Amino acid sequence: MQIAPFGTEHFFARYEFTTPYQLCNSDCETLTVHDLLTLAGVSPDELGKLSLGYTESLGHPQLRRMIAEMYDQVTSDDVVVLGTPVEGIYLAARAALDPGDEVIVLSPAYDALLNLFEHIVGAANVRRWEFTATDTQWCLDIERLRKLITPRTRMLVVNFPHNPTGYLPSREQLTELAAIADENNLTLFCDEMYFGLVHSGTPSIPSVAGLARRTVVLSGLSKTYGLPGLRTGWLVVPDSELRQSIVNWKFYTSICPPAPSEFLAMVALTVRDQLRARSVARIEQNLQLADAFFHRWPELFKWRRPMAGSVALVGMNVPSVTAYASQLAQEAGVLILPAATLGTDDRYMRMGFGRAAFGEALEQFEAFLSEHPISAAPLT
Ligand SMILES: Cc1ncc(COP(=O)(O)O)c(C=O)c1O
Repeated sequence: MQIAPFGTEHFFARYEFTTPYQLCNSDCETLTVHDLLTLAGVSPDELGKLSLGYTESLGHPQLRRMIAEMYDQVTSDDVVVLGTPVEGIYLAARAALDPGDEVIVLSPAYDALLNLFEHIVGAANVRRWEFTATDTQWCLDIERLRKLITPRTRMLVVNFPHNPTGYLPSREQLTELAAIADENNLTLFCDEMYFGLVHSGTPSIPSVAGLARRTVVLSGLSKTYGLPGLRTGWLVVPDSELRQSIVNWKFYTSICPPAPSEFLAMVALTVRDQLRARSVARIEQNLQLADAFFHRWPELFKWRRPMAGSVALVGMNVPSVTAYASQLAQEAGVLILPAATLGTDDRYMRMGFGRAAFGEALEQFEAFLSEHPISAAPLT
């Protein structure tokens, strides 16, 4: 059976490990096992003593407890530790939906949030709730969402902080979304992989977990905590029937989490505030570089500063960002992501601000732009 190509992952598989200057990563700067253990005051001998047997299928009880403590209204029973974060999207879609059900997905979106749902319910049954935009920011149109709901709609899929726009709703908007889900008997699926990456000046909001009658929250250590190599993710599913169905599907995909990842995840959660603060500080520094860069190139880019998260969706005044990105990677060794992989038209790129080498990569990009001018009319 075919599924749509996972454009973003194909792009990174091709370029991530061969292109020296990266401007589009969504993860934050990582650290070594040694540095993580040192930060948490744990001896490497402890890791050495770890048994490499099978682990508990829902996750180590202590890890589930530590995850539950990150939320207001969640107990460890609600938590399912995954084999990888992205697996949680597949499991939730499989367990909660049947072919022919309708799903509404906030768009553009990380490929899996569109393609997996289209795969399971049928492409015609996934309705895109598109962001709108002003000159300076992205906006949610909640009235537009209400118009997309039909008697067959079963799920609303959102992602906050949002990849790729960097949007974060207000607390009032979040409450309204939960109320809309309840009024229409929808499962509210919120991808919170970037949870806690809130920039100064943006009011933070709580998790969606437990805000509506039926919520499923996806989160993990890849982005906010800079640990994508652990592949640690989890679902928070307060509804026990849905949770059991998700666990049944998980037995077919990963059975139980990898033991070394669970060990290191528990270590990481003891220092989660430090890891998160380090990521936020780096993003804020890099955003200042980006502000200055876009100020110097007003005709070439449309900059809408992100409110949260580690990425931004940037308009670029070239006929095809896909073609330009491949030229840039090959000729300058600089990587930008064509946001067409995330469902935008081909005049947007995604930028990522979580990496330590962002400034150096931006300098390389600017040098290439100066040497290879693009004649552009102002973007609207
Ligand atoms: C919104 C969103 N959800 C889920 C994932 C999957 O996370 P991971 O790659 O750690 O499995 C990503 C990764 O980019 C993402 O951006």
